[in-house]
Amino acid sequence: MNRKMKVVAVATQKGGAGKSTISIHLAVQAMLSKKDAQVVLLDLDPQGSVVDWAKLRELDDPVVLQAMPGNLSAYLVQAQEDGTDFVVIDTPPHAGGTIDAAIRAADLVIIPIRPGPFDINAAVGTVEIMKQSGRTGMFVLSQVAAVGPEGDDTAAVLQELYPDVPVAKARLGQRKAFMQALISGQAITEFDRPNSKAVGEIKALFREVRSRL
Ligand SMILES: Nc1ncnc2c1ncn2[C@@H]1O[C@H](COP(=O)(O)OP(=O)(O)OP(=O)(O)O)[C@@H](O)[C@H]1O
Ligand SMILES: [Mg+2]
Repeated sequence: MNRKMKVVAVATQKGGAGKSTISIHLAVQAMLSKKDAQVVLLDLDPQGSVVDWAKLRELDDPVVLQAMPGNLSAYLVQAQEDGTDFVVIDTPPHAGGTIDAAIRAADLVIIPIRPGPFDINAAVGTVEIMKQSGRTGMFVLSQVAAVGPEGDDTAAVLQELYPDVPVAKARLGQRKAFMQALISGQAITEFDRPNSKAVGEIKALFREVRSRL
């Protein structure tokens, strides 16, 4: 039994914020970060973006499973019994029991935010659930334009609204390579040059997530 299994949920009610992209990348990075790491990526979204990616991938690692709120606990018990090191849960973009279940199961909640007011406003529900469940989390800026103050401005607004929820130092830029990697069943670290900006962003994000677990 692996008692050190860590569970990360990626959640926000806002559609398109980058949940599935971040979930896949955290899972693959966890897999690559340690020899023989056992990683499970649970797709709690009936849209099945993560499962679709896994079909393109045609590899068994990380293990990708479609789950539902009702069987999430059973999957996590099984993962623990199987000696899993790291679980990532991707969630759907709407309020309701699914996000609650994922957050309650998590050691850390990642809330992706695209710069601008819409994603900031939509985060309120997720932050509420997180606090009510006694969980900790962090905002991650997603799809940040290469030029302009929007990333910093959004980070400042988030810190003012939610002083006790940190904003990750690592940010994901708006980069076509993320999408290109995913549509070939890969993650950016497997797809892009090792020294590309996108690869650097994902490695930095994973390190920061790991340091909070
Ligand atoms: N950093 C990025 N750079 C460029 N494109 C991105 C980035 N992150 C996500 N995208 C693209 O934005 C779209 C939405 O991303 P993704 O599916 O990860 O969001 P989501 O929050 O899971 O969406 P949903 O709420 O529908 O589940 C996708 O087309 C994805 O390829
Ligand atoms: Mg998604």
